[in-house]
Amino acid sequence: MGKKLYIKTYGCQMNEYDSKMTLEVMQSSGDIQEVFTPEEADIILLNTCSIREKAEEKVYSELGRLNKLKKQNPHLKIGVGGCVATQEGDNIYKRAPFVDLIYGPQTLQRVPKLLEENNKIKAVDVSFPIEEKFDLLPLPTADGPTAFVSIMEGCSKYCSFCVVPYTRGDEVSRHPQQIFDEIARLSEQGVSEITFVGQNVNAYEYPHNGRLLRLSDLIEVAGSVDGIERIRYTTSHPLDMTDDLIECYKYVPELVSHLHLPVQSGSNEILTKMKRNYTRETYLEIIAKLHKARPGIKISSDFIVGFPQETHKQFLETLDLVNEVQFDASYSFIYSARPGTPAAKIEDNISMNEKKERLYELQTLLDGFQRKYSQNLEGTVQRCLVTGLSKKDNTRMQGRTECNRVVNFDFQKIEILGTLLDIKINKALAHSLQGHIFAKEHSSLT
Ligand code: SAH
Ligand code: F3S
Repeated sequence: MGKKLYIKTYGCQMNEYDSKMTLEVMQSSGDIQEVFTPEEADIILLNTCSIREKAEEKVYSELGRLNKLKKQNPHLKIGVGGCVATQEGDNIYKRAPFVDLIYGPQTLQRVPKLLEENNKIKAVDVSFPIEEKFDLLPLPTADGPTAFVSIMEGCSKYCSFCVVPYTRGDEVSRHPQQIFDEIARLSEQGVSEITFVGQNVNAYEYPHNGRLLRLSDLIEVAGSVDGIERIRYTTSHPLDMTDDLIECYKYVPELVSHLHLPVQSGSNEILTKMKRNYTRETYLEIIAKLHKARPGIKISSDFIVGFPQETHKQFLETLDLVNEVQFDASYSFIYSARPGTPAAKIEDNISMNEKKERLYELQTLLDGFQRKYSQNLEGTVQRCLVTGLSKKDNTRMQGRTECNRVVNFDFQKIEILGTLLDIKINKALAHSLQGHIFAKEHSSLT
């Protein structure tokens, strides 16, 4: 009889992609059935994140809970993968000796073999064989109208606060043919929206026929694939927002009018200390070019408050930048010292209280813009990708606007899943929109 596998995913889209690939790798190596609660499983894999402190602690408390299951079922195998695994290595065995397997984001393709060997040894494999990972990944099976496509792994930017280059290794771009094959396969299976993912996705670079292929080339090809109606990519670094990529907003209609472009801070002194290698002014120039190429484009971002030695004046420069750019739905975090990063060596002179106040102030400002944009949508018609049934009310369906807002609407015909429909927005709620179908071409369905 087959084995039941439960994978719990923490963190970013790369991890979501990796979990899906781990499942595919396991299924291609044996009789594996995915289950959705740890209690049912024979194998439990935690795909972890170490971007901030709390994420790690969450993993250890989850392991504590899983230990109880292991006591009831000694045959249960527990594996820890992802960035906490790379960072902590066999220290995990010290804090949680009942764990059977430790693997990194770049060795997930080896999990079936490591599990097989596990009867003899407790494996730790957190090396960086990224090309091997790309070569060994099976073509994915679509599970809905949207899909992630990984185009590069790792990051070579080494921002002074960030642990990613140490946990995922330096940047490696994937062979374009593998990417094109994956997109073709996904579109055949009914996927209409793809998101190119990579830790530093717009740094993609691959020598091909005497020149370097870039993200702009991938976007152009993806846009020409039958059935691919929407293209997103994440996460980008401002430094790699080159003119060829910005030009895509002019001539690739499938590319959505929404870009997540982390800025982190509005103060040039802090940006230098963060080693971001751009200034506030160059960031604003990029935004201006984007607006010129695609009027109405919405920009969202990531921010860190309370970077060591950040003065109140420097924090105010971040607020000022938010007011200038008027970002859409964004993420903001309190700085968290990561072991082994240069910033962790700078004396952190800001109290937690002060950091929390700065975060609150920034989030209040960001929320205001997000709400304003949602309210501006009331009464307008938005092209939405139908993604499934509504989460709270399964007599309704759910779609996504270009700026990735969830829209719930009254309609239920599974045939419209994966199609783009015009939806008139009736009401903006705090975290979603309500609407009704507007498109004439679909009126025969209603
Ligand atoms: N590749 C992305 C960042 C990936 S990490 C980029 O180009 O910026 C996602 C976000 O987590 C970052 O944008 C940053 O805002 C936040 N982050 C990363 N390290 C952090 C740390 N040490 N403390 C607090 N937030 C952090
Ligand atoms: Fe991290 Fe900076 Fe790369 S935030 S992922 S080192 S671009």
